[in-house]
Amino acid sequence: MVYRYSEIVKKYFKHPKNVGKIKNADAIATEGSVLCGDMMTMYLKIRNNKIVDAKFESFGCAANIATASMLTEVVKGMNVDEAEKIEWKDVVKKLGGLPPIKYHCSVLAIQTLRSAIRKWKEKQKKVSS
Ligand code: FES
Repeated sequence: MVYRYSEIVKKYFKHPKNVGKIKNADAIATEGSVLCGDMMTMYLKIRNNKIVDAKFESFGCAANIATASMLTEVVKGMNVDEAEKIEWKDVVKKLGGLPPIKYHCSVLAIQTLRSAIRKWKEKQKKVSS
């Protein structure tokens, strides 16, 4: 099936930003989509509650790679609480839209980010207790 992607999606898919692992990441999460079975991993470096670096590895499609690429750019410099509130629709808007059948691919990126932040917060609670 051929999908019509925006120029921004094509740009972020063809030249994805922040692909790879972060050595000694403060937060790592891997999530899978129940809709397509694809998976992705997100790595975060966090200092003073601020995301200072974000990278990802994706085994998903072009829409997932473009979303994760845009998302990792957007969250850099953001407070973890702010980053946790980002909605998939916000990222899709920044990408110039996605075909509705590909919305779950952007949801997967958001889920993975939130999971990484949740894990980091749980770790912080354990350290301080
Ligand atoms: Fe699975 Fe896009 S179809 S992430």
